[in-house]
Amino acid sequence: MMIRIPNLLSPEQVAHVRGVLAGTDWVDGKVTAGAQSAQAKHNLQVPESVPAARALGEIILTALGQNERFTSAALAKRVFPPLFNRYDAGMSFDTHIDNSIRFVKGTNIRVRTDISATLFLTDPEEYDGGELVVEDTFGTHEVKLPAGDLVIYSATSRHNVTPVTRGSRWASFFWIQSMIRDEAARAMLFDLDEAIQSLRGKLGDSDELVTLTGLYHNLVRRWAEA
Ligand code: NI
Repeated sequence: MMIRIPNLLSPEQVAHVRGVLAGTDWVDGKVTAGAQSAQAKHNLQVPESVPAARALGEIILTALGQNERFTSAALAKRVFPPLFNRYDAGMSFDTHIDNSIRFVKGTNIRVRTDISATLFLTDPEEYDGGELVVEDTFGTHEVKLPAGDLVIYSATSRHNVTPVTRGSRWASFFWIQSMIRDEAARAMLFDLDEAIQSLRGKLGDSDELVTLTGLYHNLVRRWAEA
């Protein structure tokens, strides 16, 4: 399951985020990597404790909360505070799988990483290379989206970021613990919700749509860890 969420951030928000990031400290991205991924990871990152980055993370969390497509696709229970990374020319992240459990720094909060998220903060014209490559049961998918767009994909997927050969690729990345742990169930609920919304748009409300909407919610009630 890989889902694109276009325009999560407006161009103005992207400009604001980039302006703040330009003035912060960047450190080696290995600070948040596990043992295997530390070997694979060659990029720069803003430390989790930087207050300015926390404030930018709040902008992203607010945008997620207001985005219907994200809400339906992720059915989020917890979202890890967004982190920020940067790949300059020569930097890459070789194939790895994200850690399963992450602690929010300075708290006892644990997030089971069901879904991985990348929010693009630079446009594709600004750099060469730097594709996010995700392997799933249907094959290999390359992703490179306009600034402000988000992609979410199963955190069980092997993935990598190809070397940047020109310019610089900036992004925010984070993880989501879903109320629906099972990926197949989550994907079915997303399809069902999309179909119901589309039908409502075409036909207006009807008795059958009330039943379908009820079925959707009854399945969420049955499956969710709220
Ligand atoms: Ni990763």
